[in-house]
Amino acid sequence: MLILVTGGAGFVGTNLIKRLLKEGHEVVSIDDYSTGKKENHINHKNVQYIKRDLLDIDPNDFNYKPALIYHLAAKARIQPSFEQPEEYIRVNYEGTYNMIRLAKKKNISLIYAGSSSHHSGKFKNPYTFSKDMGEDIVKLYREHFNLRASIVRFYNVYGPHQLTEGGYTTLIGRWIHNIETNQPCFIYGDGTKRRDFTHVEDIVDGLYKILELGKYGHDFELGRGKNYSVNEVAEFFGIKEEVVYEPGKPGEAQSTLCTDSKAKEILGWVPTINLEDYIQNGIANFNVIANDKPSISFDHFKTQPEVTYNVNEFKGFTTEIDSKLDNDIWSGGDYKWKIESIKHIINKLKPKVIVETGFATGRSSTVFLNFCEQFNIKTKMYSFEHNKNSKKHADKLSTYFNNFNFILADTKSQDMINYLKDEIKKIDLYFCDGNKNLYENDINAIYPYMNKGGYILMDDGWHSSVSQLAYKIAKEKKINLTLLPKYERKGFLLGPI
Ligand SMILES: NC(=O)c1ccc[n+]([C@@H]2O[C@H](COP(=O)([O-])OP(=O)(O)OC[C@H]3O[C@@H](n4cnc5c(N)ncnc54)[C@H](O)[C@@H]3O)[C@@H](O)[C@H]2O)c1
Repeated sequence: MLILVTGGAGFVGTNLIKRLLKEGHEVVSIDDYSTGKKENHINHKNVQYIKRDLLDIDPNDFNYKPALIYHLAAKARIQPSFEQPEEYIRVNYEGTYNMIRLAKKKNISLIYAGSSSHHSGKFKNPYTFSKDMGEDIVKLYREHFNLRASIVRFYNVYGPHQLTEGGYTTLIGRWIHNIETNQPCFIYGDGTKRRDFTHVEDIVDGLYKILELGKYGHDFELGRGKNYSVNEVAEFFGIKEEVVYEPGKPGEAQSTLCTDSKAKEILGWVPTINLEDYIQNGIANFNVIANDKPSISFDHFKTQPEVTYNVNEFKGFTTEIDSKLDNDIWSGGDYKWKIESIKHIINKLKPKVIVETGFATGRSSTVFLNFCEQFNIKTKMYSFEHNKNSKKHADKLSTYFNNFNFILADTKSQDMINYLKDEIKKIDLYFCDGNKNLYENDINAIYPYMNKGGYILMDDGWHSSVSQLAYKIAKEKKINLTLLPKYERKGFLLGPI
């Protein structure tokens, strides 16, 4: 189905387009790039981006025939609306009216992005007023002129592709940016205002369900159903002590909280992501291990990678290496993060020498070796493992890749050091299974051999003492460090690349 997404280069629009493409739809985006970004474009044959102001679309002269318009384009955010109320009314009201004209003219269904600020009263600020005017015109045409439309009010959205700089950012995006760049985080007012923070993946899921189930004629509310004060958010980020308090700003409601259950009842929509987890997966452990603030990069892959791997096409893969793992676990689930991360780092770093400790079943090694080959990178890979059972997997892998060296060695003994001293000497990429405290020793042994621009790639994110040790060493020795998230925890990769 061809779908028109207005605001397709913006935050929610980009996430929505990804989902629509994944579901097999074709998309046309209209955006004037006032806050939208070209970097958000998805490189896919089924999406086309048009740079145009909403008001410059002539419904009588529009060459596309979409079945649905997701109307997301808007001047968003409250504070800037006090500076340019005319522009908010022009885009959010007149722009919406123009999209309705288009929908009517071509018999297109419409889903309108409303805002939870609706509940704070129409006149609370120019943004809310203009968004409500947009709602009103949708309702009028729905009621009297057969417009197939639903309104969807979003609650405080956060997640990949959110703006992180400038006057149109939201709290989560701004704080992540400020923490990353060592700038202070501000709270306007006393920090008791509460917001129902909702992850964009959940929002997109709700938006998609409306299309999937054909549920038009409704007003939905998409909110997590749980709110946090700004002070609590500062605590989640671990910055409560450093946050700078400034006088409150006008037009902000004291609280947002979704209590409406219509989306659940009609769409079967159940939000799944918690703000607390999102933040804590990302940075909580930094506070345990570092007094000074390290630089942190969030959302390395801005969202769950789109690719689906058929890992059975990876040479030396599972059915031979590990019959317990089926293709679904590897390519369907969160393991995609890991595969994409490995692919990304191999392609970027083009490592000549990779060392890993903790071979076990050899699954990651298989991925490493396949991507090296795919990118034509001449790499030598050394895998240290003391577990004799691993040997037979390694032997299999060696039949596919002659640059793969498996060294059965107790890494706590002198064996590994000797190898490093005599043969390996410079390591570009060290892949460490962070899961087991056993490998703490390895990091200490290996880092003197790390190339200056080299990377330590930790499995298992921040969830072990090894990760934390790796962080300390990386910081001290100026070695780059990337952490792979735990499989079941999507959302974050931390690290400097
Ligand atoms: N993000 C939130 O927390 C939130 C909450 C409630 C409602 N909403 C609504 O969701 C929608 C998407 O918001 P977002 O957070 O992705 O904001 P965003 O600013 O990232 O996206 C809006 C997009 O609209 C485009 N745009 C603005 N004026 C335009 C014009 N005249 N013509 C064409 N394109 C134009 C912008 O360039 C941008 O890409 C908006 O309608 C917003 O009001 C967002």
